[in-house]
Amino acid sequence: MHFATKALRVGQDPDPKYKAVVPPIYQSSTFAWEDLDHIPRIDYSRCQNPNRDMLEQVIAALENGEHCTIYSSGMAAVAACFALLKQGDHLLVANDIYGGTFRLAEKYLPRQGITYSSFDAQDADSIKSVVQPTSKMLIFEGPTNPTMRVPDIAKVVNAAKEAGLIVVFDNTFASPALQNPLDLGVDIVLHSTTKYISGHSDVVGGATITNDEKLAYEIFEWNKAFGCNPSPFDNWLSLRGARTLSVRMERHCQNAQAIAEALEANPKVTKVHYPGLPSHPDHETAKKQMSGFGGMVSIEFATVEEARWVAENAKVFLLAESLGGVESLIAYPPLMSHATMTEEQRVARGIPPTMLRLSVGIEDVRDLIEDISQSIDSYHKRNNSLDQ
Ligand SMILES: Cc1ncc(COP(=O)(O)O)c(C=O)c1O
Repeated sequence: MHFATKALRVGQDPDPKYKAVVPPIYQSSTFAWEDLDHIPRIDYSRCQNPNRDMLEQVIAALENGEHCTIYSSGMAAVAACFALLKQGDHLLVANDIYGGTFRLAEKYLPRQGITYSSFDAQDADSIKSVVQPTSKMLIFEGPTNPTMRVPDIAKVVNAAKEAGLIVVFDNTFASPALQNPLDLGVDIVLHSTTKYISGHSDVVGGATITNDEKLAYEIFEWNKAFGCNPSPFDNWLSLRGARTLSVRMERHCQNAQAIAEALEANPKVTKVHYPGLPSHPDHETAKKQMSGFGGMVSIEFATVEEARWVAENAKVFLLAESLGGVESLIAYPPLMSHATMTEEQRVARGIPPTMLRLSVGIEDVRDLIEDISQSIDSYHKRNNSLDQ
């Protein structure tokens, strides 16, 4: 089956009793045993539930993976990967990484005796310079949040494998509709399913996918032990979202490309970060490993004041955290996704306070371009009238 068909059919045969085409919500904490000689595969909803099971089958199929585990958030999926490490181990974290992942590495892993070093995922050779004898794992992502850099996944994997590391890749920004990192040698792919996979900004969740049976078992056991499961309804919602991922992603990509081109042509925008633009430093890498350039665009302005004004005065774009939903959102990284980092840490990672991140939705793109343009123009009109 091809991608769009897998999303609609894997693990979703009509229910055995009533033949409901849409999977029912199995809102039950516990499931009856036939007898004491046969332990049912699904017996208690902290360990497994039919709605979670269906979602796991679909996401595994979409990522070309064998095993998927679902969590109550993307951060729980990151934590599950880090739980493969033990006291004394060392981790490599890409310096261009989601703020929450950074917070976990910076603040919580040291409490368990696990240290980390940053590396530059754009320069696979930088891995050699930070790897230690105790290094066990490497984590990176792309397109990166919010700088939209696209690391060459295969190159990073090759360098990490030479050092014997488990390679974890956060595929949240691309979604499995645009790139499948397991095919490029990554060991564990993770998602915040809150974003494109669920796609409607109505549920928080996470997933890990791997082809490695041993890693899959350890991860599943961690989730069972720590109990980081979403409710049956949350799993049902995420599955409903995943069913339309393919068409949503097509529209996200079309709209984002059009907005990026329009803003690049606007002299009041000082910089546009979108891998679909030929001017983007990783355009060729993105063309090679992605089937579309995604729905995320970051833009920079001349001043912090202007960036804040544009964020606050857009009308169709809503000023809100998160991304990947059908509606367009504007985020201000210093106060939202990257609030954990100091200004110095953000600037060192290419996130100036003059940057906004756009999650481009599936509205009519003419309204989106008009919205951002009016917000920018209103700033300059106000400034001109203040000058007079
Ligand atoms: C790239 C990335 N990974 C992980 C997460 C964490 O996901 P969640 O908010 O579902 O815990 C986020 C959240 O914004 C993200 O952007």
